[in-house]
Order: sequence, then C-alpha cells, then structure tokens
Amino acid sequence: MPDAAGYESTASRLSLGVIVSRGKFHVTFTVNGKTVSVEKNQKLIVYLRDTLQLTSVKNGCSEGACGTCMVLIDGKPMKSCVQKTDRLEGKQIVTVEGLSPRERDVYAYAFAISGAVQCGFCTPGMVVSAKGLIDGNPSPSPEEVKEALKNNICRCTGYKKIEEAVLLAAKMFRENTEVPSGELPGTLGESIRRIEANGKTLGEAQYTDDLHLDGMLIASAVRSTYPRARVLSIDTSAAKAIDGVFAVYTADDVPGEKIIGHIVQDYDVMIPVGKITHFLGDAIALVVAESDEALEAGKAAVKVEYKPLEPVLSPEESMQKSAPRVHEDRDNLMSFQSVKRGDPDNAIKNSAFIVTNHYSVPFTDHAFMEPECSVAEIEGDGVHIYSADQGIYQTRKECAAMLGLPPEKVRVSAMMVGGGFGGKEDMSVQHHAALASYLSKRPVKVRFSRAESMLIHPKRHAMEMEFTTACDKDGNLTGMRARLIADTGAYASLGGPVLQRACTHAAGPYNYQNVDIEGYAYYTNNPPGGAFRGFGVTQSCFATECNINQLAELVGISPFEFRYKNAIRPGQVLPNGQIADETTALVETLDAVRPIMERNPKAGIACAMKNSGLGVGVPDFGRCRIAVRGGKVHVHSSAACIGQGMGTVLTQFVKEITDLPLEKIVYHTPDTAECPDAGNSTASRQTLFTGEATVRAAKQLMDALEKAGSLEALEGRSFIGEYEGRTDPLGSDKPHPVSHIAYGYATHVVELDDDGRLKNVTAAHDVGTAVNPLSLEGQIEGGVVMSLGYALTEDFPLENGKPKARFGTLGLFKSSITPNVDAIIVGKAGKDGLACGAKGIGEICSIPTPPAVQLAYYLHDGKFRTKLPLDDTPYSRKKS
Ligand code: FES
Ligand code: FES
Repeated sequence: MPDAAGYESTASRLSLGVIVSRGKFHVTFTVNGKTVSVEKNQKLIVYLRDTLQLTSVKNGCSEGACGTCMVLIDGKPMKSCVQKTDRLEGKQIVTVEGLSPRERDVYAYAFAISGAVQCGFCTPGMVVSAKGLIDGNPSPSPEEVKEALKNNICRCTGYKKIEEAVLLAAKMFRENTEVPSGELPGTLGESIRRIEANGKTLGEAQYTDDLHLDGMLIASAVRSTYPRARVLSIDTSAAKAIDGVFAVYTADDVPGEKIIGHIVQDYDVMIPVGKITHFLGDAIALVVAESDEALEAGKAAVKVEYKPLEPVLSPEESMQKSAPRVHEDRDNLMSFQSVKRGDPDNAIKNSAFIVTNHYSVPFTDHAFMEPECSVAEIEGDGVHIYSADQGIYQTRKECAAMLGLPPEKVRVSAMMVGGGFGGKEDMSVQHHAALASYLSKRPVKVRFSRAESMLIHPKRHAMEMEFTTACDKDGNLTGMRARLIADTGAYASLGGPVLQRACTHAAGPYNYQNVDIEGYAYYTNNPPGGAFRGFGVTQSCFATECNINQLAELVGISPFEFRYKNAIRPGQVLPNGQIADETTALVETLDAVRPIMERNPKAGIACAMKNSGLGVGVPDFGRCRIAVRGGKVHVHSSAACIGQGMGTVLTQFVKEITDLPLEKIVYHTPDTAECPDAGNSTASRQTLFTGEATVRAAKQLMDALEKAGSLEALEGRSFIGEYEGRTDPLGSDKPHPVSHIAYGYATHVVELDDDGRLKNVTAAHDVGTAVNPLSLEGQIEGGVVMSLGYALTEDFPLENGKPKARFGTLGLFKSSITPNVDAIIVGKAGKDGLACGAKGIGEICSIPTPPAVQLAYYLHDGKFRTKLPLDDTPYSRKKS
C-alpha cells in the first residue's frame, strides 16, 4: 500500500498498468527507485515538490522554458513541469535526491571546485542534464556538453564554469577518481569553494518555496484588468463563500501604511475603491486559501468594477502638458538629475571633432531563475517573514510600516535567493505574505507565477538618450552633453538613483571635465523600472562608448588608442570632479587586452567605471557581528547573498584577520533577530562595506583574543564592526567632491568570427584586491553573458502596458550560443585599504559589453547601430 507520500514498495505492487481501485485511476511509476501510485492527474513537478517534497526539482517557470525542474525519465533529461503524471505509467523518474552516494559526491565536488554554483537555483537541473549526458556518453566533448545543457538556463554563471564542472565530473567517473577532501586555508586571494555550494548542488539548500509550515495557507493577489482605471467597487462576497477560501483582504484591511515604497512612498499595498490603478500589476484584493484550486476559484470570483481611463504608455506621452497624471497626487516627472561641470558649451564648440547620436535601449527583465516567494507566520505579537530579497532590513521597514507595527515586531529571515540582479530590492510578495499572515493568524505563502514575476518586479529602464561628445584634433576628449529620458513606469522604485547613476557615469571613465548631463524619468502606466545590474550605467555607457568610437574614427586613431589616451589615471580628475585615487587601474585593464587588439583590429572594445556604494552623500553603512559560541566564531550580517557568494567572502575576511581554521568560522544567513543592518545588496557595495565592517569586527575579536588567551574564554562575547562610507552630495560646492568611496574599472573586448557570430569575449576588471578569484571570474563571466543578451537578443516588449514576452521569449542566452569568456583580474590595491583593498564587481561586469559588441559589428559590417538589441545580426530574431 502507498504510504502517506504515495510511496509503495515494489513488492506490494500488483501491476505495472493503470489500475482501477475503488473507482479511481492509479498510475504507477518509480521515483528514485521507489514505486509510487498517483491517483490525481497532475503536473509531475507538482507531485514531486508538493507530495514527495523533493526540493531539488525547482519551479522556475512552470512553462517548460527554464530547465530548473529537470528530472530523468527513463534516463532522459526532461522538464517535469510539462509532464503529466497520467502519461508516466511504468516510467522511472530520477531526481538529484536519487543519485547514488558516489554521484552526489562527484557532482557536488565538481560543481563547487569549478565555481559553477552561484545562486544555485539552476544547479540541480544542470546536474540532471549532466547525468543524462554522462550516463550515455562518458567522454563528452565540450560541444556535446554545451548541447546537453541548452535546455537549462543559468542567469548567473555564463555557463562556462558549469560546462567545466560537467567535464570534470565526467572525467572523475571515467577515471574512477576519488573525490579529494580538504580545502585551501581560505585567506584572501584563494579560490576556496562556496560554503553553500554542496547544499545548492544537491537540492538541499532551502529556498523560500521549499518551506512548508504546518497549517500554511497560500495567498495571491487579484491584479488590475487595466493599466489605468478607477476602481469603482470591489465585491469579495462570492469569493469568500467558496469552499477553501480562508479570507479575502482589500486595502481597507491594511492596518498601517497603505502606501509603501523603497525610497518614494508611492506603491499601494492594494488599490482602494475610488483610487486609480497605475499598471496591470496593481493588487486589488488578496485572496487567502487552503489550496491552489480554491485560490484560483477565489480570485476568479472577486468582482471589481472599473472605470477604464486612457493610459500613459511612454515618457513622450507622459511629459506632455495635457497628459493625465499617472499618480493623482504627484507630477509625471518622477526624477530630474543634472550633472554639470566646466564649460561644456565652449569646449564642444571649439573642438576639432563633434559627434551626436540618439540611442534607444529597451526595458529588460532580470529573469532571475527563482520567481519571488515569501512565507510569513505569526511570532509573538508580531510577524516572522521568510524572504528571498536583497535586504532584510528594507523588507522589515516596509512591512512594519504597512502593518502599523514597530520594526522590532517584524522579524525577517533570509532564505536562499535564486538570483536578484536588482530585481528583488522592492516589495513584491513579502508585504502580502506578512499582511495575510498577520490578519489570518496562520502561516501564509505567496509565490509568484513566472508571468506575475515578469509583470510586477521593476525592469531595467528603457531609455532614450541623445549624446554629443567632442575631442581635439589629437583625440583628447574635451566635453560632452547628454540628455537621457527614462521610462520609470508605474512606481518610483529605485528609478531616481538609477537615473542619477546613469547621469553621473555618462561621461565615462576618462580624463575630461566639461560635462552637461540632464536626465528625466517619467512615470507611465507601464511596469515599473528599477534597479538592474549596472544601475543605469549600462544604458549611458552604451551611448558614450559608441560616440567615442566615432570620434576615434574621425581623429584617425584606433578605438583602443583613443581610450588609452583618455583613460583616467591616478591623480587625474574624473568628469564628476572626483580625483581618481591611487588604486585606479583602468589603464591596466587596457594593457591586459592590448595583445588582442593588436592581433585583431576588428575586435570591439569598450571601457566602464562603476561605483562601489551608494555614494553622493547618502548614509551608507556596512555592519557585521561576530559572536563566539561553542568555541567557534559565528558571522552574522544582514548583507544578502543573491548568488554573489557573500558568505564565502565574509568568511575569507574573518580568516584573513584571525587566521582561524575555516571550520572554526561559521557563517549564518541573514536574520534581523541576529544581524546588524548592513543595508541592501545593491550598488556593488557589500564586499567593500560589509567586508570592511567584518574586518573591523574580526580585529576587535583578535584584540580580545590576545587578552583572553583562547576562544573558549570569549564564549558568549560579540564583536560588532561598522563602517560608514562618507561621501559628498551631488552638486556639492567642493572643487573635488568625493562622490563615491571607490570605483572599479573595466575593459571588455568582443571578437566575432567571419560569419558575424560571437567568438570570444575578454573582460579585464580592476577589482582592487581579489578576495576569491574563482568567484570573481564567475561574476564576470555571468555578467558578460547577461549583457550579451542585452546587446543582441533581449527585449521586453509591451502592448498597452502588458508584457508580450514569456520567459521563453525573453531572449536569454543559452549555453549552446554562448561564446568563450576570458575573465582577467587586475588590481593594484594593497591589503591595508578598506576591506583589505577589495572593490565591488557585481555590476560593472555587465556594463561595457553592449558597446563592445556594437563596435565589433560596426567593424564587421560597417553599420553603426544605435539601438539595443542590435539589429541585423545572426542573433536577431522576430519580435515576440
Ligand atoms: S520550471 Fe520547468 S522548465 Fe521551468
Ligand atoms: S547559478 Fe544558475 S541561475 Fe543562478
């Protein structure tokens, strides 16, 4: 007989065929060697995850487009979200949980040692595809590995290290190699394995959707039917009457602030009767139910009466005097930013060469592999939220305000985060889970479908940009003027700072000081724009770098020589007035790619700079608490790991300062009950800010240890390190304001083959001190590949404010078309700098790729493209 989970011993089975018992159909198949009997026809992924609780099977899209749900069916890798159980009679299903001990050891080792695991959400699916390949082909070629992984999307790694991991695993199986034990000491500069890599590879690391609490309900919001409409009435009575619907809440039920927001409070928790909607993702009512079926029925039964209104669908419409207001209580111009220095008008007028171009870049979606999910439960007289976000204190702040509770009554614990890239900085599911739990007094899970995720979380801003750049007859940059117009969509999110970074970095990492840059971000009724890896600089860098290539051509020097001549050097003044410090290593990144440029004059090149930290006078703290318990040091910080390897980085800082063996250093995932507030994982700031705070905490520990003599003597003691990065505000009257604590610099080179296909990308990065080179390479490779998509294939088309793309048509790069990426790490910081000289890498690795691609195509076919994704390339595709 089947047990509670549906398992049944093989011996007890009567037949392999579909059998009928008590009037019900049974389908029998095996899962990881055990026979199961399934009565209800359902998606295999649902059965595996919900009934058998096999958490290695991840639900990234539920539409057959991502590969996170991959399982072996009779030895063949298949997506379990497109398999129905009634078609599986007699089949053998294997998930990562069903691997042999030897296979688990080999795959866990190979993926960790190769640096193939970042957020980890794709990893078990990758392992399944790898096993499917290796079992049938013990000696796969690199091309065969690429082909085998082509149905598994990874948004973090750029595939290279995953492919290396698969090749290594195959070799270990082939040669029957013993899995090596032991680890490097772990000091700075050593490529130790990610501390959470094993758990992620084997599907044991817990993401929020893996949580199942006793008595847990599920909740989901009814969203607006129109991008802009007045809500005339909401009738929840029919929904409430449905069996299995626990409650239906509206804005009237919100006990505290009904409008929240990351920086600007403009985001309605739910749209109340009488108010207008701002985009199709606006929540109108929150249905809480016992089952998926009841939830869907309840949502369908909520009756909302609207008065549809003309939507505002572009900044061009939004800026018209006659345009309706997107928010009734504020202007459509959400943010204006201006950066002016020197005398740009005269500088440009008197220049030998001047170019002006208009550039257009689209909205793009983060497409992190884990859709948003949050669970909340009552804790004492407050709420405990389990969250996958980019800052647990931000989640606490907004949820506490919404609940009308003091912040300390709201506890937020971080789960594993299956990628963020800026898209998990805002409230999406957390506030609704918290509200539903607080009101219902039951644990509640809110999980987005992929379609909801794509509609609701803020996108990379679409921008229209007019750039004029000038130089003298020798190719020395003299001045520039830029106008940027951003579509910030329905809500401010981080649109103000994004526009500001786009403007502050628009002149590029060069030594000239006459700039006139203005940026405008307009509300529209489109999905919101917000933070996305590169934070606005990805957009403005594309414009400025493309202009520079035209200037180089007019001067008659190579794009490389033009950049080398103008590259900012230590002691020189950046276009924003800040003096470049002694760690500035842009020239070193150019030197690193010089051999390629000499060998291949058709290679495309671009440079970039990116700040570490919020800067421009905004209070910015990194914090870490080191606690001594049980003879070990426990590292607590709220700095979110969204796949970048925060825990490993902090562990290496502690190791560097204390020289304790790694097994004595225990990293804990963020929890407001344990960790000081280290701010968000944003602005490439955590390695520097929380890294420095951790160094300070570790130094305090060492001082105490010296006096106490042993860790045991410090039992129960805590050491809190804090670092505040002080900067000058934008518009400061100082001659040389410090806008940011540190800048990283980079040069990317893109090479095409004769057919115009990507052959190789080289990415040289100034990272200061490299904490973990393997991790850094992974960030660089992943960032480059993400931006190859931005350059060539990705788009997020909208029609009347509605996304037209599905996950499978976003244009994400797959392993089979991804070129080799060579990451080169340079840096000249000493270990006595802040955070031992480390700078951020998270964003800059995505910034210079698109203009380098643009130049490569210009040199290939002579067409100067000004729009992303670039048209008329072998990667161009029909609009979805
Ligand atoms: S969840 Fe099955 S392919 Fe994405
Ligand atoms: S590690 Fe592959 S999606 Fe994050």
